[in-house]
Amino acid sequence: MDDVELIKQKINIVDLISEYIPLKKAGVNFKAPCPFHQEKTPSFVVSPERQIFKCFGCQKSGDAFTFLMEKEGLDFKEALEMLAKKTGIVLQKRTDDKKDFKDRLFEVNLKAQEFFHYILTKHNLGKNALEYLQKRGLTKETIEEFGIGYAPNSWESLTKFLLKRGFTVGEIIASGLGVASKSGCYDRFRGRITFPLIDGKEKLRGFSGRVLYAAEPKYINTPQTPVFDKSSYLFGLNLAKGEIRNKKEAVLVEGEMDMILSFQAGIKNIIASKGTALTEGQIELVKKYTENILLGFDMDLAGDSACRRGIEMADKAGLDIKVVQLDQGKDAAEVVREDPKLWQKAISEAVPIYDYYLVSASKRYDIKSSADLKKIGEELIPVWAKISDDLVRELYIQKLTAFLKTDEGILRNAVEKMRKNPEKSYTGLLQKTSQDNIVSLKSRRELLEEYLIALLLHPPAEANFVPNFPETIFLAEIWRQIYVLLVLYLDSISFKSRAFDINEFVLNLPKELTREVDRLYLMELDRKLLDEKPWKKELDEVVSELKKALIKASLEKLSLEIKNAQAFDKMEMVENLNKRFRDLSVKLKNL
Ligand code: GTP
Ligand code: MN
Repeated sequence: MDDVELIKQKINIVDLISEYIPLKKAGVNFKAPCPFHQEKTPSFVVSPERQIFKCFGCQKSGDAFTFLMEKEGLDFKEALEMLAKKTGIVLQKRTDDKKDFKDRLFEVNLKAQEFFHYILTKHNLGKNALEYLQKRGLTKETIEEFGIGYAPNSWESLTKFLLKRGFTVGEIIASGLGVASKSGCYDRFRGRITFPLIDGKEKLRGFSGRVLYAAEPKYINTPQTPVFDKSSYLFGLNLAKGEIRNKKEAVLVEGEMDMILSFQAGIKNIIASKGTALTEGQIELVKKYTENILLGFDMDLAGDSACRRGIEMADKAGLDIKVVQLDQGKDAAEVVREDPKLWQKAISEAVPIYDYYLVSASKRYDIKSSADLKKIGEELIPVWAKISDDLVRELYIQKLTAFLKTDEGILRNAVEKMRKNPEKSYTGLLQKTSQDNIVSLKSRRELLEEYLIALLLHPPAEANFVPNFPETIFLAEIWRQIYVLLVLYLDSISFKSRAFDINEFVLNLPKELTREVDRLYLMELDRKLLDEKPWKKELDEVVSELKKALIKASLEKLSLEIKNAQAFDKMEMVENLNKRFRDLSVKLKNL
C-alpha cells in the first residue's frame, strides 16, 4: 500500500473538515455552510462513508486531499505532507509528484485573464478596445460579469508577464496562450478583445479574441488543449444555466456578442455555439439542462448541410428544436441592439424546425415550376425521412403534401423508401452522418432513467419513501435490476425506520451493478434536492415524464395499427383501436 492509500485509511474526513468549520449531522451525512463560497443555507455535504465532500452550491468536491489543497492553497505534495504529519505516517519516499498539469493550465489561464482584464479596464493600452465595446452597447457591469479583456498588440507582453509569475514556456504554449518560436514563444492573442471561455462548471478553459477593426480572421480561439475542446463547448453556459433550467428552454446563437448582448438585455437563457453547427458534444451539454432548444442563427439553417447534420443529431437525441426567425442578414446582437423587445418577440414566435424547413423552401423555390418541385423533394424528403418520431414524421408528411399540393401516397412512399435505404437515393444531398456517433448519444429518455435512479439513491435525510411505480417504467435492463433491488432495500429500512446507507445497499449488490450505482451516487444533484419536498416533486416529474414517453410510444404503435386496419377495411378492429387510442390520449393528458 502506498502512502496515499495509507493516509486515506487513517484520516477521517469529518474530523479533518471539523477543524475548519462546524459540521452538523444530517442523516448519514454532515452539512455546513460551504467554506469555499458565500451562502446562507448550507449546501456543503461531507460523506463519512465515502470519505468525500461536495458542495451543491459551488460544485467543489473531493476527498481529504482536495479539501486541504483548496482550503490551504496547497499543492498535492504539500497536502500529502500535512496529512502524513497529522496521521503520524512517515512518508516512504519523497515522491516528486509534479503538480497536476491540467491544474497548471487552468492557473495560467486565470493569470492571463487577470492581465487582459486589467489592460482593458485600467490601462491606457486598452482604451480603444473599451471604446469599441461601449460603442457596441456593452455596459461596464457586463464587461465585469463576463471578464472581458484586451490583449495588447505586442508579441510578448503576456508571455513576459506569465514568465515573471513563475509559469514555464511549456505551460504557456500548452495552454494555447503562447505560440512556440525559436527563442521560446510569443503571444497568440495580440491586439484583440478577449472573451474568457468559461464552462458550465466555472472552469476557465481558454479565450477567444476579436479584432477591433475589420481584419481577418475576425476571431481567433484557443486551439485544442488538454483543457479546451471547442467541439464540446458552449459559450455562456456558466451564466445561463440557471435560467435555462427555469425556463426549460435554451436559446442557441452563433456568436459571443449575440450571447452577451442578449444576456445583458435580460434574455438570459442564452448560449452561443461560437460559429459551429451543433456538435454531438454540445448536444450532450444542452441535454443536461433542457430538451428544448431554440436556434437563433442568422444563416439559413435549411440550406447548410453541417447545420442539418447537427439538427438531425439533436432530433435523434430527443431534443425539441425550434427556429427563431431573424430578418435576413441580421444576427441576434443586431436585433437586440435595435430593440430587446424585438428579440424577445422573435424568440416567443419560434417555429418548429420542420415548419422552418418548409418556410425556407417556400422562400427559395417556386412550387409552380416542376424543376423547383423536384428540387424541393430532393431537399426535404431526406430530411423528413430522418425524423425519428413516427407521429411527428406523419404530421410533416401531411404538411409537405399540402404545401406541394401533391399526392400524399406518393410522398409517403418516397419518405418510406428513403428511410429503408438512406444511402442509395439522393446521395450527396445529405453528407453521410456517422451513424456510430448517433447511436452512442444517449437519448433524453435514457438520461431520465439514469437520473431517476440517481434521485432514488439520494433520498433526503428525512425521507422515508418507498417508490411504488412499476419497474417497467425503465426500458434499460440495468436500471430495472437496480430499481428492483433498491425498492427491496428501501422497503426494509423503512420498515425498521432506518436511514438510507449507501454502503449497506451496495453490500448486497452484484458487482456489475455496483459500478453504475457508485457512478450515480456521486452524481451532482441540484442542491435543492437535499430537501424532501423538492426532491419528491422532482421525482414525480421525472416519473411522469417517463410514463408519458411510454404512452407516447404506445400511441405511435396504435396509430400505425389503425392505419393498417383501415387499409384492410377491418372496421371493427379500427373501432377498437380507436377507442384504445382515445383512452390512452386521455390518460396522457391527465398525467
Ligand atoms: P461580431 O461581428 O463581433 O458581432 O461577431 P459575430 O458573432 O456577429 O460574428 P460572425 O457572425 O461573423 O461569427 C459568429 C461566431 O463565429 C463568432 O462569434 C465567433 O465565435 C466565430 N467566428 C467568427 N469569425 C471567425 C473566424 O474568423 N475564426 C474563427 N475561428 N471563428 C470565427
Ligand atoms: Mn454580430
